[in-house]
Amino acid sequence: MSDLKVCYNILSQVYKQQAYGSISLTNRLGEAKNRDFVTRLVYGVLRNDVKYDYYISQMTAKKPRNSAVILLKIGMYCIEEMDSMPDYAAVNNTVELSKEVGKQGSSGFINGVLKAFCRKRPSLPKDETQKLSVEASVPLWLVRQYNRQFGAEKTREFLTCKPLELEHARVNTLKTSLAEVEKKLDETNVEYTVDEDCENCLFVRNNDKVRSLFDAGLITFQSKTSVKCCEIAGVKDGDKVLDACAAPGGKSVYFASIGENVGVVACDVYHHRLQLIQQYARRMGVKLDVRLMDATVYNKSLAGAFDVVLCDVPCSGFGVAAKKPDVYLFKDKDKIFGITETQYGILENGAAYVRDGGTLVYSTCTLLKDENDDVVKKFLRNNKSFKLESKQTFLPDNKGGDGFFVAKMKRSAR
Ligand SMILES: C[S@@+](CC[C@H](N)C(=O)[O-])C[C@H]1O[C@@H](n2cnc3c(N)ncnc32)[C@H](O)[C@@H]1O
Repeated sequence: MSDLKVCYNILSQVYKQQAYGSISLTNRLGEAKNRDFVTRLVYGVLRNDVKYDYYISQMTAKKPRNSAVILLKIGMYCIEEMDSMPDYAAVNNTVELSKEVGKQGSSGFINGVLKAFCRKRPSLPKDETQKLSVEASVPLWLVRQYNRQFGAEKTREFLTCKPLELEHARVNTLKTSLAEVEKKLDETNVEYTVDEDCENCLFVRNNDKVRSLFDAGLITFQSKTSVKCCEIAGVKDGDKVLDACAAPGGKSVYFASIGENVGVVACDVYHHRLQLIQQYARRMGVKLDVRLMDATVYNKSLAGAFDVVLCDVPCSGFGVAAKKPDVYLFKDKDKIFGITETQYGILENGAAYVRDGGTLVYSTCTLLKDENDDVVKKFLRNNKSFKLESKQTFLPDNKGGDGFFVAKMKRSAR
C-alpha cells in the first residue's frame, strides 16, 4: 500500500466517520513506510481544511463527492507544501491514488482540477473577514465571533501567529532540577531555551534523547497554558485539592508536586482516561487519589471538603487549534451551546465542594466567551457567596502560548 493511500484511509476515517485525527493516525501509522511523511500530510490537510474547501468551491461547479474532496485536498497539500514533490508529480500521484482507492471514475476530474490549481490559485475573497477565514483556515462564523470579541486587528494577529516548533516541558523538581536537565540537554546537543515566564520550564526539541528524560519522569510535556493555570490556582503545601476533570492528569500532577502534604483527588468521567492519570502520576513519582466521577452529578460526600477545586472543563478546544488541526471539524455554533450547559453544571457542583474561604478555579482551552465569561458571569449571579478574584483570557502567541481562559473565585468565609 502506498503512503498516500495510508493518508487517504486516515483522512476518510476523519471526514466520513468523524474519527479524531490523532487517534486515527496513531492506529494506522504502523502501515506507513515513511511515518513523518504520513503525519505531516494528514495534519497538513486537516490544518488547511477550510482553505481547501474554499479553493474547491471556487474551482468546481458543484460540491464533489466526499472521496473526491479528500483526494483533491491531498493533492492541493502536496502541490502547496511538499517541496520534495514537483507539481506534475503531485498531480500524477494523486490521480494514481484515486485509482488505488477504487475511485478511478473521478481520476479525470481530479487531474483537471489539480492541473488548473497548479496553473493558478483561486483569488482570495475581497471581504477582510472572509479572507482571514481562508488564509488562517478557520471557520467564518468563528472569525466573525472573534472579531466581535477581540477586534479585527487582534484577531488577525493571533490567528496568523506561527506556533513554536519546540515543545514546552516542565522539570520534575521532585526528581531533578532545571540546571541538571539543562546539563543533560547540553551534553546531548538537544536544542532548547529556558522559559523565562514559567518557573522550572523550558522549550525543547522533542527527540529520542528528550524522550528518555520524559520516560524517566525527569521532565514532562506540559503546555505553558496548563502550567500558568496551575500557578493561578495558587495551591499551597497542606491544601486539599479536587481536580474535577483531571485526565490526562497534567494539572493534578503539578499540584501534587507542590509539597508532600498536598492531597489531590483527581476525577474523570471516563474509566479509560483514569489510567492516563495513573500512568502520569507513576512516571512523575507522585501520589494521587484517582476516582471515577461524573462532575455534572452532585456528590454529597465531597461537600465543603476542599481548599481548592479546579474545574478544567471539557470545551471546544479552539485555543489549542495549532496543536489539534482537526479541532474545527464538525463543531458548529449549535454544538458549542450544548457544551456550555455541561460546563455550567460542572462549575456549580465544583463550587459546592469548596470549603468556606476556599478557592474555585474555572478554566478552558478555548477563547469563546459563551464558554468562558458567560459561564462565570452566570455562576457569580447565582452564587453570591463567591467573589471573582481574577479572570484572564490568554490569546495564542508566537512564544509558545496557547489560547485559554482562567477565572479564580473565592468562597466567602462564614
Ligand atoms: C480539558 S480536559 C482536562 C485536562 C486536565 N485537567 C489536565 O490538565 O491534564 C477535560 C477532561 O474532562 C473530562 N470530562 C468530560 N466530561 C466530564 C464529566 N462530566 N465529569 C468529569 N470529567 C469529565 C474529559 O474526559 C477530559 O479528560
